[in-house]
Amino acid sequence: MYTLTGLKLKNPTILAAGILGTTGASLCRVAHEGGAGAVVTKSIGPIPKTGHPNPSMVKLDCGFLNAMGLPNPSYPSFFQELEIAKKDSGVPVIASIFGGSPAEFKEVAKGLLPAKPDAFELNVSCPHAEGYGAAVGSNPCLVEAITAAVKDIVSVPVWVKLTPNVSDITCIGNAAEAGGADAVVAINTLKGMAIDIESGYPVLGNRSGGLSGKAVKPVAVKCVYDLYTALEIPVIGVGGVSSWQDAIEMMMAGAAVVQVGSAVYDRLDVFSEISTGIEAFLQRKGYSDVKELIGLAHEMV
Ligand code: DOR
Repeated sequence: MYTLTGLKLKNPTILAAGILGTTGASLCRVAHEGGAGAVVTKSIGPIPKTGHPNPSMVKLDCGFLNAMGLPNPSYPSFFQELEIAKKDSGVPVIASIFGGSPAEFKEVAKGLLPAKPDAFELNVSCPHAEGYGAAVGSNPCLVEAITAAVKDIVSVPVWVKLTPNVSDITCIGNAAEAGGADAVVAINTLKGMAIDIESGYPVLGNRSGGLSGKAVKPVAVKCVYDLYTALEIPVIGVGGVSSWQDAIEMMMAGAAVVQVGSAVYDRLDVFSEISTGIEAFLQRKGYSDVKELIGLAHEMV
């Protein structure tokens, strides 16, 4: 059993926001068939949003580029899906929420509270959503105010998902901590673009988007490493984790647990595979507890 911000997880892998997270049934599938220790919903906001024009996601050699644009039905319409996930998944369910201001974040959190999410993840880091996401999440004062506003009305843990598209992610992490965050999640996607050379057009309907998958793992590892040093609260590592080796690397950088996103498109049971691999590694290396791995790279001087 793993304890993270008071939540009990059967293993240290969590479904990242945005993948298979729009219905209660898909979240349950990730828990039951995939073996995830917890699941995070697609980010939910104050008003219905159709998102950016297609194509909104493309597969590249090194990962995925997306500009979904935070499509979601808004919190009143998502409420029932959250209830289903809570009732049937058997694992902690974390509601990912977004807004353009502290008041909007508060409104969404308040609206979803009666469905009893186990925690909230504040998405202040989508790289391509005007007025939302990184537009607010690269401003430390706003991040602190948003975190404090949600903390003010909920008693469950509040995690803050950070953008790597800033010059110093620890400034934003510090702001989240100052606002009362119980953990930070690093990282959201990295700004990117792909161009079709036959037509000359950018491939995504929104022209640019966010990169995830293998290419971003070293960026995520460095962000987690820096945040581990800068903060007192736990760091949840996400970005390009697709194997138990990646998960251990992220933990050695300082991640208390990992989230898995893009790799789920290849195989749903990646969660079971990672947790079994971690257990075998611990045994082979003679560690008695996974905690011995967390931040290990910091001691190697
Ligand atoms: O890359 C991302 N895409 N990050 C987010 O936080 C949201 C998502 C989207 O909906 O565009």
